[in-house]
Amino acid sequence: MNLNDSISALGIRNSIDVLNHGWEEAQECFPGGALPFLSERFIESSCRYLNVPSEILQQVLKCARSIAGNKYLTGLAWYFHYSLFKRDDYPQKNVNMWPSIAALSESMREDAGLFYFLIFLSGLEKLVEYMNNVGERRSIPSQIIHDTIFETVRYFPTYFKETGGFPPGSLRFRVYVNFGGEYFVIGRLAYHLNAFKGKLRAFRHRKNKCVVAISEDGVRYLSNGQRDGPGRLLRDGGTWVSTLTETDDAIEGHPILPTGEAVPEQVRLTKSEWFQVLAPGDTVLEIHIPGGGGMTHELCGKSLKAALDFFPRYFPDRSFSGLSCISWILDAELQELLSSTSNMVLFQKEFHLFPALSDDKCLLVKAFGQEFKDISNLPRETKLQRALYEKLAVGSYPSSKAGGGFLLTEDFHWGAQVYLNRTPDFLDVSV
Ligand SMILES: CC(C)(COP(=O)(O)OP(=O)(O)OC[C@H]1O[C@@H](n2cnc3c(N)ncnc32)[C@H](O)[C@@H]1OP(=O)(O)O)[C@@H](O)C(=O)NCCC(=O)NCCS
Repeated sequence: MNLNDSISALGIRNSIDVLNHGWEEAQECFPGGALPFLSERFIESSCRYLNVPSEILQQVLKCARSIAGNKYLTGLAWYFHYSLFKRDDYPQKNVNMWPSIAALSESMREDAGLFYFLIFLSGLEKLVEYMNNVGERRSIPSQIIHDTIFETVRYFPTYFKETGGFPPGSLRFRVYVNFGGEYFVIGRLAYHLNAFKGKLRAFRHRKNKCVVAISEDGVRYLSNGQRDGPGRLLRDGGTWVSTLTETDDAIEGHPILPTGEAVPEQVRLTKSEWFQVLAPGDTVLEIHIPGGGGMTHELCGKSLKAALDFFPRYFPDRSFSGLSCISWILDAELQELLSSTSNMVLFQKEFHLFPALSDDKCLLVKAFGQEFKDISNLPRETKLQRALYEKLAVGSYPSSKAGGGFLLTEDFHWGAQVYLNRTPDFLDVSV
């Protein structure tokens, strides 16, 4: 199948560069005839295995029929399947650039939303086999392997609400992270052995054990101490850029408060008193939160404790500094919107927050989904939706804050809000 003919027929010419990568090789290996992973039997048995709800199964079957009935879509489905499951060297980042659901809707209309889920199913057997091998090799309890394999479907309501289906970025995450062998669902939360992505270094005081976070050099902040970026709607007070200087005996830079704001005034930490405990790129347990509500304080604490036992036991070859999370769940604006007993607020107070790149529309998309255009018609079913509605109704807008957090292994005392309660005197934090 010729790439130019395919992208013209499907209205996805903008994707030519990314699809050009390995297209010919994939088409040369096209098996001919009907693709087995588009058959009703295959889809029904894979969906049954994953406990996919029956209404979604019907939509997946419809999507498969629409692909099988169009030679260009069949060629594209084969290219996706081949790149992910028949090659070992396909660049992961390319998957994020595959045509969006909206672009595929040109030719597939409502069937576009599940195209990439079908591709995920096409490699499910291989993915499950890989996870079972990891489990056996490391003697990981079968319940954890089971929960990790079955996580995808828990995210379905979120996928549909936020993007209208299963987007290419979710396919990438599922194939390379969820089934990557270093990601596990442990109780309520999931954990990925990964590099720390915060733009900061953390230091511990040698005697009193306090922790201070200092911004990396060259990070642009808004006047309220939050990260600047393309998703910011207001830059009223201008912006400033951090500097960090390290000499033989000290570190000088801008502290980040445990509440998640970077401070324009600098502090100086002497190395005789402070030592580094976290830096960008250090291995951490990156936390992910599977959907389904109910991330209660108790369940989260139990899960974190279990994760801190699990990884040293089953991955003794991989040391890590602590836990980290970058998510809308750590958006400190939630503290303004929700009560102090909300699960998300309780969760974020246990972490040392830090500013992450964020989009000011993020909370609205998370609460209302992609359809939050007409304010008067917004659903007001949950406390979060009602709080956001009230804000919008008076012409105010939520501005995203913090979004990242870390909790070092040594500081894990769930419920103690360690970083808020053990702040050095020179940092002014009102809890
Ligand atoms: C994260 C999550 C588990 C939090 O739910 P929770 O445990 O109910 O959290 P809270 O107690 O803090 O919620 C406070 C209120 O906000 C509501 N709320 C929470 N998340 C909401 C969302 N995404 N949309 C609308 N309302 C939401 C809750 O229903 C609750 O209101 P209620 O008491 O009227 O029911 C939930 O949003 C979820 O399942 N999300 C999908 C997965 C996800 O976003 N993962 C993170 C990926 S980065």
